[in-house]
Amino acid sequence: EESKKIKLEQDPSLLAPIKSKLRDVPTYLDKRVVVQAWVKSRRDQGKDMMFLVLRDGTGYLQCVLTGKLCHTYDALTLTLESTVTVYGTVNQLPEGKTAAGNVELVVDYWEVIGKAPSGEDAYSSLFNTESNPDVLRRLRHLVLRGDTASSVLKVRSRTMKAFRDHFDSLQWYEVNPPCLVQTQVEGGATLFSLNYYGQEAYLTQSSQLYLETCLASLGSVYTITESFRAEKSHTRRHLSEYSHCEAEIPFITFNEMLDIIENMIKDVVGRLWNEPETRRMLIELNLRKNDEANDETKAAQIVGRNFADIKALIDQPFLRMKYVDAIKWLNEHGVKREEDGQDFEYGDDIPEKPERYMTDCINKPILLTHFPRSIKAFYMQPADPTSIEDYEKYKCDPPTESVDLLVPGVGEIVGGSMRLWNKDALLEAFKREGLNAEAYYWYLDQSRYGAMPHGGFGLGIERFLAWITNRYTVRDVCLYPRFTECCQP
Ligand code: 4AD
Repeated sequence: EESKKIKLEQDPSLLAPIKSKLRDVPTYLDKRVVVQAWVKSRRDQGKDMMFLVLRDGTGYLQCVLTGKLCHTYDALTLTLESTVTVYGTVNQLPEGKTAAGNVELVVDYWEVIGKAPSGEDAYSSLFNTESNPDVLRRLRHLVLRGDTASSVLKVRSRTMKAFRDHFDSLQWYEVNPPCLVQTQVEGGATLFSLNYYGQEAYLTQSSQLYLETCLASLGSVYTITESFRAEKSHTRRHLSEYSHCEAEIPFITFNEMLDIIENMIKDVVGRLWNEPETRRMLIELNLRKNDEANDETKAAQIVGRNFADIKALIDQPFLRMKYVDAIKWLNEHGVKREEDGQDFEYGDDIPEKPERYMTDCINKPILLTHFPRSIKAFYMQPADPTSIEDYEKYKCDPPTESVDLLVPGVGEIVGGSMRLWNKDALLEAFKREGLNAEAYYWYLDQSRYGAMPHGGFGLGIERFLAWITNRYTVRDVCLYPRFTECCQP
């Protein structure tokens, strides 16, 4: 009751404050500033002193409130995640103390903007050590405020920019293909279909076919667009909606394309490494324990623990390995097919687990190439027979000029190929896959009006991020992940 009577007033003799974001506060040493932010933590020292750590997305700031400033009703009832306006002078921290930016704000006046709930709805009560992934998912909008999630999202923002800067350095154009489409790219099983003014349409699985139509007008192109997959399986690395970074390049050979992929990964990780703040967050995230880790993933966790190790890994030449040799590797290491416990054979899809096991054992990025046609999409160019040993053995399901980039801890992060560019070969592929060539009339025209050898690839931004931030699942690097049965928030 007493506290309700205490009213704070600004001292009119003080200098007008400089309005600052928290990241800039250390540049105003000894000046009077005003900041507006969320209360991240609060520590009381006796009745006459209170330390607040504020957060505003740009940084953190420790504030010291003394005397009357911590006797008001608002001070006594101040909850975490409340918003406040705080006025004060920026002081260098005394020797031996640490706080963000090595400064603290000595407060002379403050007020509450919006008070957060207390009691059982208090922010700190929402998350306890037992919080299971489902609870965290449902409260994702509040989880975002935590240090880990906000670092991941900041790294994500820098990563999107790094990819764009990379392609920009090559002088490739960015294009924006549609997400509402009437053609499939990666097979009917994962199509989301919808009623489009009475016609059947889909959410795009990949922008690849549209990128191919840009080559004659823009040269090499790229896009970072959402792709959608109605994945039925609930895995660590499958989302229903993901950010797909795709590029397409005219007049190249398969080997040139492999170089382009390898150089892109090296350059993008290098760009992130070269930004001190991004590197600091990546180092911290790699050290930080994974919330959803379990025994199955311990090996993967150790691999990615130190971001410097990832940097060292990608600075080495990537291993280039053919599909047939991966099958051999699995058989030599006693890895069996899950369905029948038998050895893997040519033509088998290599599932997520064995693929990750092999990549973790080899512990290097692997450009895995020459997958058989039967397990890949319709548009892939068959490999040159002279590039394959014992070609006769495989020609009924010919190896293609295809590639997956596998990285330790995650497995596949890139898929790409050289494209069929002969019209008859394309028509035959449509027939084989049971696709209606008429819907692809615009795609087929590329093989009529100035065809050329070309290729490209797609990288899942979330898989790339799960790898470099050492997160257990791709769901942890999304703002709001979309996966089986989860479309909220
Ligand atoms: O291997 P995918 O299916 O290849 C394509 O879509 C090609 N059309 C790309 C191209 O050549 N332009 O997918 C490419 C990448 C995968 O390597 C993976 O990183 C990511 O997209 N990806 C997914 N990421 C999250 N959730 C899913 N359900 C994903 N499906 C693919």
